[in-house]
Parts: sequence; structure tokens; C-alpha cells
Amino acid sequence: MKFFVDTANLDSIKEARDLGILDGVTTNPSLMMKEGITGTENIESHYKKISEIVSGDVSAEVISTDFDGIVEEGKRLAAIAPNIVVKVPMIREGIKAISWFSENGIKTNCTLVFSAGQAILAAKAGATYLSPFIGRVDDISWDGISLIREIAEVYSIQGYDTEILAASIRSPKHIVEAAKNGADVVTCPLSAMLGLLKHPLTDIGLEKFLADYRKGNA
Ligand code: G3P
Repeated sequence: MKFFVDTANLDSIKEARDLGILDGVTTNPSLMMKEGITGTENIESHYKKISEIVSGDVSAEVISTDFDGIVEEGKRLAAIAPNIVVKVPMIREGIKAISWFSENGIKTNCTLVFSAGQAILAAKAGATYLSPFIGRVDDISWDGISLIREIAEVYSIQGYDTEILAASIRSPKHIVEAAKNGADVVTCPLSAMLGLLKHPLTDIGLEKFLADYRKGNA
């Protein structure tokens, strides 16, 4: 399973990259806004900076919601760097645009996915990645992980190439459950990634090993 970091914060991206386990980055307009990045020029130059920090795929989201606008914007974003993936919302015009990008060799990430039906449409259109938002499904008392499992089952039966990118990950437990249920990629904040490190027995064990070493080597 690949690890993407879900942020537009350059320090977090560098920190995740320096762990040596980072495969890519996802962003969205809310994450760009959180970093105070506004205006087309600044947004595009920020994507350039991100794409230079990591060699893996970097999802850059379009704002347009009509076919012509999405294609125009997507072409501009894809021209920023070879590792830019155009992130397109799961709407009718988005599906048309994903088909167009697929036919024209531009990678896509279909975002705001909440059902297996939507996942089928995105795969048929040739999306490179599919982003089911598992945390937001959990937020409304449904089961985000079941959604990942259902999509993984459909994709396996049908032999679709689209990669399942579990998004809206909120915790280390989400990461493990996504891995168990067939996600190809998880995208999460650095905090959830670092949360995987934690186990009290690791801390207790290390403390004991170091104490014993100090006793024998005082
Ligand atoms: O990748 C999509 C993700 O950023 C959404 O996460 O926590 O806003 O639901 P969240």
C-alpha cells in the first residue's frame, strides 16, 4: 500500500518525505486555504514547490465544475510538473473530463467519492486514482471502511486498474483498516502516519534495553 500525505504544508511534506516512506501528496482547496495560499498564480507556484519536494504523484484539484473549464484547468495543472495528478470531483462533467484526461495521457484522481456506484463510473472513465472519503462517511454514522471493502471487491471482480486511494483518514486505526480492506493508497495527515509508530510496549522495551546497556557500560 502506498502512503500519501494529505496536506499543502511544505514542512509536513518534507517531514513525511524524510521518513523515507512517502509515495505522494494530496491536496484540496480547503488544505491550500489553510496554508493561506490564494490566487491562481500562488496556488500554481505552491504546487510547483510540492512537486519538487516529492518525486511521487501530487494531486492538484480543479475548481471548475463544467467540462471545458475542468479540461482547461487540468491541462494547466498537469503542465506544472510531470508528477501532477489532476484531482476532479465526482460529478457528471467531472466524469466526462476524466475520460478526456485518460484519453490524453493525463493522470487523474476522482475525488468526493461516497459510493460503489460512483467508484464504478470513475473506473470506467479511466481515473488513475479514486478517493473515497472514509472519515466523512464515518461522520454521518455510516461505515467508511465497509465502503473501501465494497469498492475493492467490485474492482477485483471487474479487473479495474483504478487505484483505491482511501482519503479523509483521521487516525492510525483508519490506516490499518484501509490496508486490511483493500486500499491501494492511503492519504492522511502526518499525525496519523506518525501515530502508527506508537506502542507502549515499544517505549517500555526500549527504556529497559537502554537502562541495561547503561548498567553494563557505566
Ligand atoms: O483527501 C481528502 C481529505 O483531505 C478530506 O479529509 O478530514 O477534510 O474529511 P477531511
